[in-house]
Amino acid sequence: MSDSPKKATITLDDKTIDLPILSPTAGPDVVDIRKLYGQANVFTYDPGYTSTASCQSTITFIDGDKGELLHRGYPIDQLAEKSHFLEVCYLLLYGELPTADQLEWFESTITRHTMLHEQMQYFFRGFRRDSHPMATMVGVVGAMSAFYHDSTDITDVRHREIASHRLIAKMPTIAAWAYKYSIGQPFVYPRNDLSFAANFIHMCFSVPAEPYEVDPIIARAMDRIFTLHADHEQNASTSTVRLASSSGANPFACIAAGIACLWGPAHGGANQACLEMLREIGTPDRIPEFIARAKDKNDPFRLMGFGHRVYKNFDPRAKVMKQSADEVLDLLGVHDNPVLQTAKELEKLALEDPYFAEKKLYPNVDFYSGIILDALGFPTSMFTPIFALARTVGWISQWKEQLADPEHKIGRPRQLYIGEPFRDYVDIEKR
Ligand code: ACO
Repeated sequence: MSDSPKKATITLDDKTIDLPILSPTAGPDVVDIRKLYGQANVFTYDPGYTSTASCQSTITFIDGDKGELLHRGYPIDQLAEKSHFLEVCYLLLYGELPTADQLEWFESTITRHTMLHEQMQYFFRGFRRDSHPMATMVGVVGAMSAFYHDSTDITDVRHREIASHRLIAKMPTIAAWAYKYSIGQPFVYPRNDLSFAANFIHMCFSVPAEPYEVDPIIARAMDRIFTLHADHEQNASTSTVRLASSSGANPFACIAAGIACLWGPAHGGANQACLEMLREIGTPDRIPEFIARAKDKNDPFRLMGFGHRVYKNFDPRAKVMKQSADEVLDLLGVHDNPVLQTAKELEKLALEDPYFAEKKLYPNVDFYSGIILDALGFPTSMFTPIFALARTVGWISQWKEQLADPEHKIGRPRQLYIGEPFRDYVDIEKR
């Protein structure tokens, strides 16, 4: 960010106020309104923060019109093809691609933190058997601050570092155990000889009674899903993490807040909702009925997996995900998957429909991710936990960046109050 000589001028009654314009390295200029209230006694109104930059960041950049997503400058399609999840984690956390030595150090550090404190098992066991794994994750991640209080001093750089590594490393174990608990199977401990993705699959699908081999192509597909979800700049859950952290809350509490926000169907819950919608549609001949419902203003139904606050073009992650879906289903020998057929036809018909074209509604990352996860054997309830697991590195990178930013302060939005003005209390017998 640099101060440019450009400025915006606003006139309020007879008062003229100059506001500096900040120039980013990419993306639109930003009008700096920080002094506006002090100078003019007015707030700005922006529900949903559609025009508000809440922070400065060097981590991720999205060009929604071009359909471009960059992590530290590198495009997501190149990272999905040439890199892998732990390397992308390093890139997001530390700003540069690692050297071979740095990568080896990072991988062994993360691998050594995958086990959970043994007593945490009792936390899992306290939940109802049929709890949604996201509910379990919110609780267990929040509880990490009780188990790992030796890394909750946010003013200590080393504490911040260890908390970051712990969260990235333990999240697959937490997600897998939330799943195992929900199906009544024993918890499977992490295996440090497996890759990050293979270890997660092993913890989800193996049982102590027999050996289990992870197919490397399945592990690669899993790793790609993690990579595609690693970060996405200031979305709702990331902003939640930043807002929680702005008060000085500990990292585990902040990430638990992010998980809670991610759960909603308009955000991370969309992949579950999307697969459920595709199943409900069932066969391609019923698609027009659902498209008509999505267009009907009086019907709350929306096409899940379509539309995005920022992308007004194809979500670049959806393109990679679609290719991955074809590869995985091919590997598994599923050629006539009705859900995939329905998804492809729905995508085609929606893209041809003027309603979706005019509103620039394109498939987002969730449109195809559910199909892959379903083919890998995950129930829909695990889709959002897997998203949370992958997004943890994004949340923690943004959290770390915020704490190091000299301009950061407690988040405290203003409001446009439209309630009753001042009135005197009325005694109960006079109401
Ligand atoms: N189906 C039908 N119409 C839609 C859809 C959709 N999926 N998405 C948006 N629209 C319409 C809205 O009705 C609105 O129409 P209007 O202008 O006539 O009122 C217009 O498009 C703009 O929609 P907004 O809700 O204002 O757009 P916003 O940026 O606030 O919402 C969101 C983005 C929440 C993602 C929305 O597109 C949506 O609900 N999509 C379905 C859920 C989904 O797939 N979420 C995943 C997002 S990606 C992620 O979190 C990883």
